[in-house]
Amino acid sequence: MNPTLPKTGRPRDEILHELESFGTGDPDYRAGRAWSLVYWRDSDYHEFLGEAWNRYSSANGLNPGAFKSLKRMERDVLRVASELFHGTDDFCGVMTSGGTESCLLAAKTYRDWGRAERGIRKPEMIIPESAHVAWDKGAEYFGLRIRRARLRDDWTVDPEHVRRLVNRNTVMILAGAPEYPHGSIDPVRELSEIAVNRGIPLHVDACVGGFILPFLEKAGVSLPDWDFRVPGVTSISADVHKYGFAAKGASLILYREMRHFRHQIFVQQDWPGGVFASPALLGTRPGGAYAAAWAAIQAHGEEGYVQNAERVRDATARLLAGIREIPGLEILGNPLASIFSYRSTDPAVGIFAVGDRMEARGWHIDRIQRPDALHAMVTPGHDKVVDAYLKDLAECVGEVRANPALAATGQAATYGLISKIPLRGLVRKQVLDMFAETYRLSGGEIDLTTAPGMDGAVGDGETGKKPGLVDRALAWYLSRK
Ligand SMILES: Cc1ncc(COP(=O)(O)O)c(C=O)c1O
Repeated sequence: MNPTLPKTGRPRDEILHELESFGTGDPDYRAGRAWSLVYWRDSDYHEFLGEAWNRYSSANGLNPGAFKSLKRMERDVLRVASELFHGTDDFCGVMTSGGTESCLLAAKTYRDWGRAERGIRKPEMIIPESAHVAWDKGAEYFGLRIRRARLRDDWTVDPEHVRRLVNRNTVMILAGAPEYPHGSIDPVRELSEIAVNRGIPLHVDACVGGFILPFLEKAGVSLPDWDFRVPGVTSISADVHKYGFAAKGASLILYREMRHFRHQIFVQQDWPGGVFASPALLGTRPGGAYAAAWAAIQAHGEEGYVQNAERVRDATARLLAGIREIPGLEILGNPLASIFSYRSTDPAVGIFAVGDRMEARGWHIDRIQRPDALHAMVTPGHDKVVDAYLKDLAECVGEVRANPALAATGQAATYGLISKIPLRGLVRKQVLDMFAETYRLSGGEIDLTTAPGMDGAVGDGETGKKPGLVDRALAWYLSRK
């Protein structure tokens, strides 16, 4: 093992230089080449965010009584969110470290509400099939059972199915605004009717939409109602670190009523370390993230966010129109703006092979499954690369059509098989093994094309390499024929 703790401290400029060098292999988000993970504006803006972060990087939001500065920032951010989502100052909530924490908290809160108020011992959540995986994680962590509601042809959740899934153990219904895989807004008004009739909380996951939908609406985009204007909506999660353009580590969850929010709060009055109360998952809560979120909101103002939304709206419209013109591709559903995905309608064109070709041209592409498709999350900076993206995409589709064997190579082979093989337990185990290995201190990076057993080759008797996911799945397939 290489020693990594230097014997003596190194010069700071040398350290910063080395840190900078680590990023050379990362997705080139500054040039608009990444279509997920990063919400980038420009270097100047992000330097400003960094400064805001620095001012409070040591401050700790753990104890709201200690750092009044952070409590104030948190309240300001939540008030802005409440105003945007048509709430009032009577609403309540907290900032969290990200969308996942916000979703986990909602799951825990409504589980505890169900137990305390309804005596529910086996809590269930009804979530759309398109719900973000954070909800599965929440269910797993907090012991809730998931009832998954079907999607309609436009990829929004089917309220009729939700109605049928409600039972006396239901502690929460979920809607996405928008949902991540296809960018559609679920029918919140119809879900609200069900929720109100049965007295069940309705949470809207606006983690990705919360800081863009209100501004798209102000920019004239017509949207279905999804926020607190809908009476049954009891809480909304929204990430400031997505379209709010804060630094990473900033989301929030806002409740209409204290009677629900109270169940989120953890209190231990007998700890020898002192009486302890905490409103969210984390102990230490990073002051820098609050400061950067507060600063991001102040720096944009309504006008700045509307301008961003307009750029996103226009870039998305150009992308959707361009993709619709490429023979063999189809947009999934009716994405409103900012997020969409597209699949292949031509059996000769493997969509994941198109993804590989695009990556070979320097784009960082997201893949989704059920159905197999490529995904894009559009930010204002993408407006300058729309034409280049569309040109490359049309050419890549052509390359794959001319050489369908590409679908059996590279990541396309792995993703294609992973999404299709019916042995989901096998997939899960193999992914877990592979993922865990990458966290061994001697481990390497994740690469689906080269990770052991993920190379598309059926068990390699000569090298003695252990057959992995693709090997075993292929062997299984072949054995069926
Ligand atoms: C709808 C939705 N919910 C939750 C999350 C999780 O957010 P995070 O990655 O910040 O934890 C995401 C992330 O994209 C999302 O799109």
